[in-house]
Amino acid sequence: MTDIRILDQRTPEERDRAFLPGAGKTWLLPCYDVMTRVAGVRALHERAVKLAGIEPGQAVADVGCGTGNLSFAVLAATPTARVTGLDPDGDALRRAARKARRRGVALTLVQGYADRIPAEDATLDHVVSSLALHHIDDDSRGAFALDALRALRPGGRVTIADFGGQAEGHAPHSHGWAHALRHLPSLLRSRVAHSPVVARNHDDAIVTLLTEAGFADAREVAHADHAFGRISFVQATRPVLRQE
Ligand SMILES: C[S@@+](CC[C@H](N)C(=O)[O-])C[C@H]1O[C@@H](n2cnc3c(N)ncnc32)[C@H](O)[C@@H]1O
Repeated sequence: MTDIRILDQRTPEERDRAFLPGAGKTWLLPCYDVMTRVAGVRALHERAVKLAGIEPGQAVADVGCGTGNLSFAVLAATPTARVTGLDPDGDALRRAARKARRRGVALTLVQGYADRIPAEDATLDHVVSSLALHHIDDDSRGAFALDALRALRPGGRVTIADFGGQAEGHAPHSHGWAHALRHLPSLLRSRVAHSPVVARNHDDAIVTLLTEAGFADAREVAHADHAFGRISFVQATRPVLRQE
């Protein structure tokens, strides 16, 4: 069986640092993989991986990896990629580790926060992240973008899949259970779109975040109309400095 260890890079102060877990509540974690599988999130992961274009042997950090599903999609497409999953949630990482052992894939797991990516300067080929950026508070988002720029080699690429793009219309009023059931998909979409954490990503905020950090060419390269809401696939590149 593959030996998968979880490295804890949190400082003593960070051990009490709050974070928003994958399913919103820590007690919902056991349902996370089932819920996201039923909701078709795997297709979003596969699309993100295809867009990232990871080559054999390349170094990849999956930021906010949770139970590891995007990392596993990377490894399914490119088995020799060297993938590190980063997340503050120790329970989610333990699930990721169990899954990696069962699948017999090599994966490094690090417990920590998005604003300190576990990589030396300019050593990563790719930073990838799915459905995690809206979990990251406003102060840390800017720090994440700067740290991704630091950790990527010149020409290295960040690929993010998360709720985003342009904001949707107003939240519908409630008209009772029958109405709610009939309109469940659109109600869900609307609830997600109007949640204050998802609002962080509205109006192409991810593109702006990466541009302000110094990435070149940050743009939405694709989008998907998912049951939970509009998913934006954003990519950007660490600029290659020209020799004088
Ligand atoms: C909705 S889950 C997405 C998990 C996985 N990427 C996926 O696509 O299934 C969001 C993840 O972001 C993580 N998260 C929350 N705050 C974070 C932070 N400051 N830095 C890194 N990850 C964070 C949560 O613990 C959770 O695992």
